[in-house]
Amino acid sequence: MSEGPDPAAVPLPEEPAAPEPGQPAGGVSRRRLFAGAAGGAVAGALVGAAGTAAAYSLGGASTAPGGAQSEEVDSVDLTKSVPFYDQGNQSGIRTPPQRHALFMTFDLNPSATAQDLQVLLARWTAAIAQLVQGKTIGVVEPPRPDAVGIDTGEAYGLEPASLTVTVGLGPGVFDDRFGLADKRPALLADLPRIPGESLQAELTGGDLSLQVCSDDHQVAYHAVRNLARMVTTTAQTRWVVMGFGRASAGTGQTTPRNLFGFKDGTRNVSGDADFDEFVWLKDADWMTGGTYQVVRKIRMTIENWDADRVSDQQRVFGRTKNEGAPLSGAKEFDTPDFAKLDGDGATLIDASSHVALAAPENNGGMKILRRGYNYTDGLNDQGLLDAGLLFISYQNDPAHFVTLQEKLGRFDLLNEYIQHVGSGVFAIPPAPKTGGYIGQALFE
Ligand code: HEM
Repeated sequence: MSEGPDPAAVPLPEEPAAPEPGQPAGGVSRRRLFAGAAGGAVAGALVGAAGTAAAYSLGGASTAPGGAQSEEVDSVDLTKSVPFYDQGNQSGIRTPPQRHALFMTFDLNPSATAQDLQVLLARWTAAIAQLVQGKTIGVVEPPRPDAVGIDTGEAYGLEPASLTVTVGLGPGVFDDRFGLADKRPALLADLPRIPGESLQAELTGGDLSLQVCSDDHQVAYHAVRNLARMVTTTAQTRWVVMGFGRASAGTGQTTPRNLFGFKDGTRNVSGDADFDEFVWLKDADWMTGGTYQVVRKIRMTIENWDADRVSDQQRVFGRTKNEGAPLSGAKEFDTPDFAKLDGDGATLIDASSHVALAAPENNGGMKILRRGYNYTDGLNDQGLLDAGLLFISYQNDPAHFVTLQEKLGRFDLLNEYIQHVGSGVFAIPPAPKTGGYIGQALFE
């Protein structure tokens, strides 16, 4: 699959639109309306804060007039803050993916007690409630010259930028040592070994996870840094991935591209019915309203990929690179037809392509919510770019991820270009109520 450039390469994606009058090049306050499945108008206009907030409040359930799949809005309002308490489900899952993410896991120290864990979860909750409003942690502002142990300061003056912090509990929390075994979420267990993975111990596991997302990288960094400082002697950091350029869309967002240059997130869980069926836990005791988070650090060998013909790349995914259309169709949101044949009697979408293997049509209707980010770690030990996908999925049963990945790990044409090197599975408790804290039901 690496025979040099394809003379018939598909055209590159369209250049970004020229700046609107009065808007600096590269400005973020812009809105695009995209044609959906049934076609529709394409228009561009500036929106103010109110328009953006309205767009976000669609909450993933938008349907454009005229039956179009969605009104796609891709604008950033840095003043926006995402509600934290009393939401039923933790934020950062259905929240339209922000532009940046940091994912960090922690190990509880051998000496940590259930009470230490309880105190940490309560302190994190109180701090997150401040941070998502664009406030600092601690009471001293601006910093007193003699103050120590307060907010680190790098987010002073910055807006909330839609910060969300999603807290997860790993299988180790429910070991006998904390006396919480009877509270173990029914489906929480270490993932089984899956074909094709090459997991590294130092990038795998963890007792606690923080998924921190924001439209301002510094706001996200500030949050994770200050939350990590609060673990003191209770826990220590295990692994971290710094994501950028969201790699999966939420409904109401234009589809972003992963580092292989393909649109990622075209078909994803969206709308109330999907979230209820595939993401949120129902009748699950204290976990009701929660979900399960699976995280994979997937290295992508982009040098090999870049040397491959675009026609081969398209066969690997089963979609076109520019438009993102299924190879059986013409437009991004056309429903793939996995049985449609070409003139030689072969299916237009290869049965071993990524989408053919992962599509709900070929998996008993099952879906997972993908909410990933691209990442880069600079150069690897061979001097090549070390980059890939911070894959994060949410599902009401981790076995749904496992079922898909067992298939992908065996058959996916993509495997020639990727390597799963990190992994984690976490229970995501429901959102805290005002005055309460994340995971409170564990200690009652
Ligand atoms: C580096 C690794 C990966 C890359 C680059 C990648 C990329 C893509 C792309 C480009 C699409 C097509 C556009 C779309 O519908 O969103 C897609 C679809 C999808 N991927 Fe991945 N993916 C990766 C890993 C995974 C993993 C690990 C899983 C789950 C185990 C997964 C599950 C899916 C699913 C369910 C779809 C939607 C298929 C459909 O409904 O048509 N992907 N992925």
